[in-house]
Amino acid sequence: MIAGVVLAGGVGERMNSSIPKLFHNLLGKPIIRYVLENLSGLALNKIIIVVKSDLKEKFQYTCGDDFVYVVQDKPLGSGDALKRAIPELENFSTVLVVNGDAPLITTEILESLISSHNADNVSATVLSTVIDDPMHYGRVVKDELGNVIRIVEAKDATEREKNIKEVNTGAYCFSVDDLRLVIDRMTNNNAQGEYYITQLIEILSSMGKRVNSYITDLGSLALGINSRFDLSLAIEKLLTEKMEELMHGGVTIVSPENTYIEPDVRVGRDTVIEPFSVLKGNTVIGENCTIGPSSYLLNDDIGDRCEVFYSVVKNSKIESDVRVGPFAHIRDGAIIKSNAAIGDFVEVKKSIIGSHTKAMHHSYLGDADIGERVNIGAGVITCNYDGKNKHKTIIEDGAFIGSNTNLIAPITVGRGAVTGAGAVVTKDVEPDTIVVGVPARILRKKEEGGKGE
Ligand code: UD1
Ligand code: CA
Repeated sequence: MIAGVVLAGGVGERMNSSIPKLFHNLLGKPIIRYVLENLSGLALNKIIIVVKSDLKEKFQYTCGDDFVYVVQDKPLGSGDALKRAIPELENFSTVLVVNGDAPLITTEILESLISSHNADNVSATVLSTVIDDPMHYGRVVKDELGNVIRIVEAKDATEREKNIKEVNTGAYCFSVDDLRLVIDRMTNNNAQGEYYITQLIEILSSMGKRVNSYITDLGSLALGINSRFDLSLAIEKLLTEKMEELMHGGVTIVSPENTYIEPDVRVGRDTVIEPFSVLKGNTVIGENCTIGPSSYLLNDDIGDRCEVFYSVVKNSKIESDVRVGPFAHIRDGAIIKSNAAIGDFVEVKKSIIGSHTKAMHHSYLGDADIGERVNIGAGVITCNYDGKNKHKTIIEDGAFIGSNTNLIAPITVGRGAVTGAGAVVTKDVEPDTIVVGVPARILRKKEEGGKGE
């Protein structure tokens, strides 16, 4: 049985931030969530996260109940963090250990690390990578046969060791039995006065146990996020991958370098993403849509053949064949049904807009339930808020709401009713009735089956 351990007890000083490092936002999700998703793709029987005691609740809240949380009271080093997890490794033969700050080490890479570890039947395997400028990373020191004999941190390395270009990514496989033999033998007499996980490699090797390295070609991106600059490189890498995936799936992205798409967004074939568009969260877009230029979509569900032009849509559903924009704002659980049109400077909040209904210019539609084939004139406002509570507006099928009508909610405008331009409607309007004025009064009933005017 294989367990996973995520070392997440460090301080992350180099971010220069009041936010703990692993909670920094990477394309809409905290860094730690990527690491956990990558581990969750493996067949692990248990995943343990070692956290600082004061952040345990925050981790639990962010990462959920699928994991075992172990507290490291003091940040005594990565080796000490692993030691805290040992009691959780009862009945496990192998443990995969990863740094919590390395979101780009994918499930596939970790899978290969485990396979290599198992195939070679070694005591430990280090995931390493080769880079031109090994900077502050741990150097992987090998003997003539290619066995790893130690990993030396840059601050503790000799001049010769500093020239080694194979560096430790901070992911390892260990035999749990061997780990138990050496876990209490770490010392902290090194440049940083910490218990290094990497010292375990040296101790194992000195006992005659075999340690291998498995080299990934990911390069510096495998080395985790230590600074805001590293964060920007991770963002760039994940964005590029996402765009490639979408383009491969038949999506046109007119200007990838001017487009932002988060990893969980899905887009259908032959949809075109115009420049300066931002697609976030769990947004799902159907086929043959045009999104942008300059649209912002967050957690939306959009059907086929829609156009979202210079607009903002958040947490809302848009069915098929809908036109939105320019400069519309649709939000908070709004539902726009098929063939509707939401035009410029129209805000739709928590409202249902029926099929073939049009609201083309300068409106606020909040807490409204609007039927099919309704015409919302320019400047129509649902006055949904009385200073204390929000109230509902219901507009039934086929109604015609004249320009600059104010609808004082709660209110219902009946099927086929008409409000005159500038009306302030304070009372429910019967079906097929024309109201005008301030406050609006009945002008007349529409003729039987007639459209009124
Ligand atoms: C570590 C490795 C280094 C490697 C580099 C790759 C050590 C000693 N060195 O260096 O060889 O090249 O990663 O990125 O591990 N942590 C705890 N508790 C602590 C201290 C750290 O849980 O008390 C965790 C951190 O949250 C982090 C991991 O251990 O996820 C590594 O610690 P960090 O301080 O980031 O080590 P690096 O200097 O990056
Ligand atoms: Ca690190």
